[in-house]
Amino acid sequence: MHNILLLVCSALPWLATTSATTNNLQLTEAELEQYDGTGPDKTIYLAINGTIFDVSASPAFYGPGGHYHHFTAKDASRAWVTECWDNPDQLTWRLDNLTAMFMPKYLDEQMQEAADGTSSIEGADALGGGAAGLAKMAQQVVSKFGRLSEEALQARRVSDGEEAEASMHAALAHWFDFFNNNGKYSVVGTLVLDEGKPAPPEICEAAMKKRPVRGGLLEGVMNAGAMPGMAGGGAAEAKKPDFVKAAKAAGEKVKEAVVGEGKDEL
Ligand SMILES: *[C@@H]1O[C@H](CO)[C@@H](O)[C@H](O)[C@H]1NC(C)=O
Ligand SMILES: *[C@@H]1O[C@H](CO)[C@@H](O)[C@H](O)[C@H]1NC(C)=O
Repeated sequence: MHNILLLVCSALPWLATTSATTNNLQLTEAELEQYDGTGPDKTIYLAINGTIFDVSASPAFYGPGGHYHHFTAKDASRAWVTECWDNPDQLTWRLDNLTAMFMPKYLDEQMQEAADGTSSIEGADALGGGAAGLAKMAQQVVSKFGRLSEEALQARRVSDGEEAEASMHAALAHWFDFFNNNGKYSVVGTLVLDEGKPAPPEICEAAMKKRPVRGGLLEGVMNAGAMPGMAGGGAAEAKKPDFVKAAKAAGEKVKEAVVGEGKDEL
């Protein structure tokens, strides 16, 4: 009896100090910068969406020389989502314009622009016939499948914007949950954000390439096979125009991209 009482009493001060220091620290960005694993106690912190996690348990990933070392001692929420880290300015918590990487690209809009001669289509060169040939073909497609009205375009942008916002939050939540639910890591506290931080650079090209591809008015064509009325029409995959194949391949890539499943083992 006495022993247990003694044990509990002697543990009390320790319990009090640990609970006071483990999960409610408030650090500024400058203070957080010290915790990159190079300090005497080798502590490694990283923050996601303003919550600081202690990731010291995985020095191989996060310590000096580790593959994800550049994510430590800061809140690089933006880069966790974009996977753009070629430029250190990308490693920021600022999410400005981040929905852009989740906004779909549309085959019907590209086709319409090609028909109007206001842009070219990715992979157009492979189709042969040059710009004039492409415009002619695109005009045939547009006259067959119709033209998107300005109102329909605006409505599409609005609903895509809402979806993109949700996707962005889901991608961020994925990483927050990853650290929050991982038994190896613990919450240290919160980051006092430096609101004067400069706006981040544009989203890198690699992230923008992962945007979803949709057919819009040409959705059926994109899913079913080659376009009726075009040379080589028919359902065979090999006979699909290159840009349809490219758009489909891009669409497939989206499934594996965006959230970066490969990092889950961290
Ligand atoms: C990020 O933090 C903000 C503000 O604390 C919160 O409203 C939002 O839900 C958080 N987002 C995610 C994905 O955790
Ligand atoms: C948002 O990002 C996209 C892609 O990087 C860019 O084209 C666009 O100009 C940006 N918009 C704003 C308002 O910064």
